[in-house]
Amino acid sequence: MSDCLFDLHIGYARFKNPIALAPMAGIVDSAFANQYASNAGLVVLGAFNLDKTSIAVASDLVARGRKEFISDEPIELIKKEIRAVTSGSTVAVNVRSTTLQPLIEAAKIVKEEGAILELNAHCKQPEMLDAGLGEALLHDLPRLSAWIRAIKETGVVLSVKVRANVVNDVELARLIDKSGADIIHVDAVMEGIGADLDTILNYRDATRLFLIGNNSVRDFEAAKDMFSRGADMVSVARGVIENPELIRELVENVNLYQQSIGWYNAPKHVCSEGDFRALAFCCMPVKPCPVHEKFRKLGYTAEEFARTKFDFAKGTMLEYGGDTCFGSLVWCCKITKPCWIRDGVLNTIGLSDAEYMKLKEQLAKYVLDHARIPVNESY
Ligand SMILES: Cc1cc2nc3c(=O)[nH]c(=O)nc-3n(C[C@H](O)[C@H](O)[C@H](O)COP(=O)(O)O)c2cc1C
Ligand code: SF4
Ligand code: SF4
Repeated sequence: MSDCLFDLHIGYARFKNPIALAPMAGIVDSAFANQYASNAGLVVLGAFNLDKTSIAVASDLVARGRKEFISDEPIELIKKEIRAVTSGSTVAVNVRSTTLQPLIEAAKIVKEEGAILELNAHCKQPEMLDAGLGEALLHDLPRLSAWIRAIKETGVVLSVKVRANVVNDVELARLIDKSGADIIHVDAVMEGIGADLDTILNYRDATRLFLIGNNSVRDFEAAKDMFSRGADMVSVARGVIENPELIRELVENVNLYQQSIGWYNAPKHVCSEGDFRALAFCCMPVKPCPVHEKFRKLGYTAEEFARTKFDFAKGTMLEYGGDTCFGSLVWCCKITKPCWIRDGVLNTIGLSDAEYMKLKEQLAKYVLDHARIPVNESY
């Protein structure tokens, strides 16, 4: 049932749900994924060290007591590990290298295996940074951009794992987007605080790339906080070690939520700091409120914005609702905002809450598709 509940795919990669196992070096391999994440939409194995320098750095870390995956034949190991995931989850492999060529070789194999390559721009141990690995890529953006472009020439579906609040996140998101990557996997960490939800929102309004939110998710409420800021998927690492049932619980909850709400990562309203997609819930722009600034950032005038929403509504069930505030459901609020007028209309026309929200999701996409200024250039 859950396989068709979500419409989640990027190129050749399909996800049965929006819950992922995040990588943990020396811990998350195929056996760990099969045991603790058998129903996840995505499992990210690794990190795997691809070149001599990263293998040497990882060996030093092991000597210091850290766990790492080390092999003299990393490409063979990766191939074996991808094949050993038997759960039906889509697989990604998180990789480190100081040079491009091993990444290209890994990308070709990973693509052949129908998996996703994840470039590690995240690890921050001093030895890694000194060698130019992990987070060091965030401090060398021309290299990051050139590597993304070169890796994408292999045709692999490419994720970039980044740590938030290291460089300007909006600029980083746009650079990754414009370089051609498919996925941004962001550890939304704020040192000393935990998950920084504003970061997820900032990434969402900087790019339309598939966004995986990560950090400190230990229950469905925390996952929902990331979904409502625009994460397409949420990943978990430490929480799985603390609670081996965590992924199963998250998947069950998100499946139920999607069945009832129809748009599992629906945004908050614009006036509650919702992202651009929330324009689907906005009223007719006839009074002063934050909607004006939001659509202006996408290059819309008030008239163009209104016309775009009307154009979408034509011939759909959103045209109904003569008794609602603005005469049509196209201007109506999110289903979780109680309103007996809207609910009465939905009841009369036989549109379920989930169907209403699915139409709003399509409307949000339409509004973004027709913007004069694309999201990744908005200001
Ligand atoms: C022991 C351990 C090892 C990790 N190794 C990696 C790694 O190799 N590559 C990577 O991108 N992230 C790595 N991470 C980061 C996690 O994927 C994740 O971003 C981070 O732990 C925050 O998510 P969480 O709060 O769900 O744990 C590691 C985390 C832990 C705890
Ligand atoms: S148009 Fe309505 S929903 Fe949108 S920001 Fe203004 S008051 Fe909020
Ligand atoms: S009728 Fe209800 S749902 Fe529609 S715009 Fe008015 S308050 Fe919002």
